[in-house]
Amino acid sequence: MNKKAIITSALPYANGEIHLGHVASTYLPADVTTRFLKLNGVEAYYVCASDDFGTPILIQSEKEGKTPAEYVAHWNKRDYEDFTAFDIDFDYFYKTSSEENIKFVQDVFLKLNKAGHIYEREIIQFYCHDCKKFLPDRYVKGSCPHCDAEDQYSDLCEVCGRIPEEIINPKCSICGQDPTKEKTSHYFFKLKNFGDALYQWLEENEHLQKDVKKYVQNWIKSGLIDWDITRDITWGVPIPLDDSKDQVFYGWFDNHLAYISTALKFLNDKGIDGKEFWNSADIYHFIGKDIVYHHYLFLPAMRLGIESEYKLPDYIPTRGHLTLQSKKISKSRNWYIGLKEFLEYYPADYLRFYLVSINPYSQDDLNFDWDDFTTRINSELIGNLGNFVNRALGFTKKAFEGKVPESETFDEKDTEVEEKIKNLSSEVGSLMEQNHLDRALKKIMEFSSFFNQYFQHKEPWKKGPGTANCVYLSVNAARSLSIAISPFIPKSAQKIWQQLGLEGDVISCSWNDISKLAIPSGHSLGDPSPLFAKVEESDIEKYKKQLGPSE
Ligand code: MF3
Ligand code: ZN
Repeated sequence: MNKKAIITSALPYANGEIHLGHVASTYLPADVTTRFLKLNGVEAYYVCASDDFGTPILIQSEKEGKTPAEYVAHWNKRDYEDFTAFDIDFDYFYKTSSEENIKFVQDVFLKLNKAGHIYEREIIQFYCHDCKKFLPDRYVKGSCPHCDAEDQYSDLCEVCGRIPEEIINPKCSICGQDPTKEKTSHYFFKLKNFGDALYQWLEENEHLQKDVKKYVQNWIKSGLIDWDITRDITWGVPIPLDDSKDQVFYGWFDNHLAYISTALKFLNDKGIDGKEFWNSADIYHFIGKDIVYHHYLFLPAMRLGIESEYKLPDYIPTRGHLTLQSKKISKSRNWYIGLKEFLEYYPADYLRFYLVSINPYSQDDLNFDWDDFTTRINSELIGNLGNFVNRALGFTKKAFEGKVPESETFDEKDTEVEEKIKNLSSEVGSLMEQNHLDRALKKIMEFSSFFNQYFQHKEPWKKGPGTANCVYLSVNAARSLSIAISPFIPKSAQKIWQQLGLEGDVISCSWNDISKLAIPSGHSLGDPSPLFAKVEESDIEKYKKQLGPSE
């Protein structure tokens, strides 16, 4: 395992609240992974930023009568607060509109230009005479030329995930009028120059998901198109060549560069050589499947274009979208649950546990279902994990005044049980390293379930032979569980740790500590108390009704 890592997750647009869909596919998997890497002694940093530029944000700030700067500052702060409440533990959260990023983006542009990857070309751009403006990206809606899906923005088809070359049947998205076509001069990035290099990079990188790789390679085979990287708007990174024009860079030219500029800012401020660190670390970019095109083609091509001065990603974990009660999340139809709102109902750990459990390492969509949530929390988190810990600790308290009894010679069953403890770190760890967070969590739950059965089988309450060993082993298993589960449900893991009467924080442990039977006989436990409260069906019925109309 590389001892250094930088982890990023898709930068949230500073354009509205974070909801369950956002955290399920990117922020939570990235956070769990970072916590796991840190436990393994990796010097890992999770950096993120708000994505501040672009036409949708400009449009929205105009609607709300705010300056775009005020508007994004509001959402930057709010997003960060919501993430923090969900225990998404960024080492640094910054913004794409930072001075550092603006400077970085301009430098990269100048280098690309010098290397011959940029050209200027006159283009025909939609223009709305009613609104008196050019209409890039979201200012235009129409049908996708690739898949015919209707009502798509001109910068991304949400149905097929491709970028329309020219949208069919265009309309101004502000006033609905037919736009005219006018001339304007734009800069282009020669993505075409990079087809072969990208193909080879995809071929050689063994960490990328095979299915994603395949279809990206097919895109390359069917021919890449150069990217128009300029926009006729005033909100964005100014083009460093000619400040006379009312033009800025396209948001997708600058936003992913903030992965690098934010990491550099954070590391350099810490007194670490940021560039050196970046280039010797494992780089992870966690994303949702809607932005595969940008992360598997555009982003690596831009890095290749500046001679890989900053290395390309090692991992781009790509996951599917969350549906809600089996229907597509939609803010306009109020068919979504805000993260902040959810955390008013239930603790962060309930949602973290549930979302990881249902989220495979694949592009398949996953579904939030209130009934499934209830079952998983009540029968797995509470009925299995909570029950085992409470039973083992509660019994020790009652029968041994909270003192771990002297262990005796192990019988066959005890030896099997000891083996389980010793193997847990590697069994769970190897799944985590392969990004299978859901399976890793399942392994941990199987471990807990095994110990529930062991406890039941040994019947320590009868105080027969083997009771001391049962208690000794169970208490140690609870300790191992606490460490192993800490990347997933950090607050509850710490509660277990405290109830075990252990010093310090569970997060200062190392992953290998899971295999140790480190609680000695004679150790005094803390005070056991229930870790979780049951999810009540009557509450769930209420929350279901709070969702908007489904159609
Ligand atoms: N804001 C973009 C989105 O939500 C993602 C930006 S990721 C980055 O789709 F790489 F471009 F930064
Ligand atoms: Zn218009």
